[in-house]
Amino acid sequence: MLVSNLIHRVWIIWVTVIAVCTCVPVPCPQDTCTMSDVKDNQCRDLDAYLKCMKSLSKKCRGDIGYHSAITVSNSEFKKKCLGHEDFSRNNSGENSQIVPSTHNACPMLFDDKKEHRFCGLFGDPHLRTFDGKYQTCRIHGAWQVIDNPFFSIMVTNDAVLNSTTATAPTKLTVMLKAHKPECTLYKLFEAQGDLQLPDKFEDSTTSSGPASSPTVSLSWRSNDPNSETVIIRLSYISTIITVTRVGKYLSISAKLPDQLAQVFDQDKNVLCSSGCPTSEQIDIKQVTISELDRGLTLCHNSIGPTGHKLTDQYLDWCVFDMMTSHDEQFINASHAAYSDVLFFEPRSLFNRTVSVFEFNPVSTAGAICIHRLNLFILTIIALYNFL
Ligand SMILES: *[C@@H]1O[C@H](CO)[C@@H](O)[C@H](O)[C@H]1NC(C)=O
Ligand SMILES: *[C@@H]1O[C@H](CO)[C@@H](O)[C@H](O)[C@H]1NC(C)=O
Ligand SMILES: *[C@@H]1O[C@H](CO)[C@@H](O)[C@H](O)[C@H]1NC(C)=O
Ligand SMILES: *[C@@H]1O[C@H](CO)[C@@H](O)[C@H](O)[C@H]1NC(C)=O
Repeated sequence: MLVSNLIHRVWIIWVTVIAVCTCVPVPCPQDTCTMSDVKDNQCRDLDAYLKCMKSLSKKCRGDIGYHSAITVSNSEFKKKCLGHEDFSRNNSGENSQIVPSTHNACPMLFDDKKEHRFCGLFGDPHLRTFDGKYQTCRIHGAWQVIDNPFFSIMVTNDAVLNSTTATAPTKLTVMLKAHKPECTLYKLFEAQGDLQLPDKFEDSTTSSGPASSPTVSLSWRSNDPNSETVIIRLSYISTIITVTRVGKYLSISAKLPDQLAQVFDQDKNVLCSSGCPTSEQIDIKQVTISELDRGLTLCHNSIGPTGHKLTDQYLDWCVFDMMTSHDEQFINASHAAYSDVLFFEPRSLFNRTVSVFEFNPVSTAGAICIHRLNLFILTIIALYNFL
């Protein structure tokens, strides 16, 4: 009795210790990084401090004190140390604006001729993943679309006016991560549904690298009054990203090397790589049919800026969006996404011209017909046996 009581107590203490250890967050050890006040070495100190702090980024993720310390030190570093010969070459991280060296050329990291993968997101949102999955998702709020060591794309989806279920991308952020000063510095491109697309990055530049063969270039295009497109080319990683705004909705497409598309954190949900979580996916065929004829007519008869009619999933999605939101801007958004596919990955299209919403009645009618035929044959056989 006594022994079992003891075991019980030890057990309780053990469980408590384990629970406390796993529940109390490990504090961010930013105190381990220090900066001395010696004036002469300020830049070197700041640099060392920033490096030390950056090595803690995993442990200190989400710690506001840590992130503000980095932001402050980064801007201090920019102000005081940019002119310094010692620091004009080495890139000390994301926010630093270090003058690129003209001596070294940025190496091409991926071959243009090797296999590439395409991903796109638009409308209510509809997603075409790197591995060719087509999904319609809820994904309200902020989500990561692509994330790799060179750039990341984030999207924010908001509810569509007058719809209880539909959401659509209203904010898109493309962040280029600093990679060797001769390739690119940290750059940010931010698009908002209710504003015209910017024609440059946030730092007011449109390119990186030598003018004759830029490593990064941003170009703005508006070939019809209803849409605007920004094309971001990252030649050093053989990647093209397009951001399009149709009405107040945004869409994004990207084509990048196969190897780069495979690099992602399995634990994080990155839409182009892992798709939408199952709980966020919508089966478009389960939607309440409303004004189907109107949707079908509008989507079938619409012609995009390149003179094409919608096919495949893009046709289905157009009809779906018309039924859920009744907002005709989604027709034009479907065309913008379709133009991207025609440009990036036309071989992925099957050119199906009948939408899934039309398949259903036909297949049901067909099933009834076969059912009748079976009954007829059975009756004949029964009669034959009987006679
Ligand atoms: C710059 O980087 C190189 C290689 O990473 C390193 O050897 C060198 O010491 C750095 N220079 C400064 C001033 O930090
Ligand atoms: C939303 O509904 C209001 C009132 O019913 C209407 O005036 C408005 O045009 C609708 N907006 C859209 C985008 O359908
Ligand atoms: C869609 O585009 C067509 C032609 O490009 C234009 O006439 C129409 O007004 C657009 N629709 C909306 C809702 O913006
Ligand atoms: C569909 O059309 C595109 C563009 O015209 C073409 O590249 C593709 O091969 C076609 N797909 C099929 C299965 O015929």
